Amino acid sequence: MPLKCYDRLSGQVALVTGANSGIGKGVAIALGSEGAKVVINYVADEEAAQEVVHAIKEAGSDAIAIKADVSKEDQVKAMFKEAIKELGTVDILVNNAGMQRDCSFADMTLKDWQFVLDVNLTGQFLCAREAVREFLKRGIKPEISCSAGKIICMSSVHEVIPWAGHVNYAASKGGVMLMMKSIAQELGPKSIRVNSIAPGAIKTPINTSAWETPEAEKELLKLIPYKRVGDPMDVGRLAVFLASDESEYIHGTTLFIDGGMTLYPGFTTNG
Ligand code: BGC
Repeated sequence: MPLKCYDRLSGQVALVTGANSGIGKGVAIALGSEGAKVVINYVADEEAAQEVVHAIKEAGSDAIAIKADVSKEDQVKAMFKEAIKELGTVDILVNNAGMQRDCSFADMTLKDWQFVLDVNLTGQFLCAREAVREFLKRGIKPEISCSAGKIICMSSVHEVIPWAGHVNYAASKGGVMLMMKSIAQELGPKSIRVNSIAPGAIKTPINTSAWETPEAEKELLKLIPYKRVGDPMDVGRLAVFLASDESEYIHGTTLFIDGGMTLYPGFTTNG
């Protein structure tokens, strides 16, 4: 059943990286369902990207798919150029594309480390920089939004929770936290709003092994006081709020959406 199109974001263009699956897909559909035109960035699986484009058109808005590896400067620049040419501008960037290359620390190769840092941190830097350049050039359009632009960085509970076996990933998300806050400090005076979303365990392809069997899900739920694994649409709804003027005074902060994973659930019966 197609989602109904509401209009909290109508007249705005959103670019969502890694939007052909998982959290990015949920966020793209949620933004599109609120009237935003959406650029669906993907690096592989064009068919999946086109399905998201289709879902957004069904919901009554517009979308296009653009292939680009967010860790490559020339590809990011070309993607923004094409997005602006096709849809007029970019008002909202959701820096979502992210990867895991899990490995014990002693065995982690420089390649595993570099790949995750390149996509998860450098990729967010490159996309945020292009978005900021466009926001500064365009300025505020009061009939569209009271901000000149909004950036939402997809972080993780692992920007604060250390994660054995995932040192590269946790380091990238810790980096995203201070990159986001520093951009927010620098560009707040230009009415550019910058925040992060830090999801906990959300059912997506990145962590299938953590929830696909009842035994795995039972183990995972020990880490979630609210006793439910998240859904991409939980994150999509939060992204809509952060992208809209309803959250205008929220700036330079991380909103955790994790069913309480950051509440140290191991201390419920111990300590
Ligand atoms: C990771 C998931 C993990 C979740 C909670 C996310 O950032 O990508 O694999 O399930 O954090 O640990």
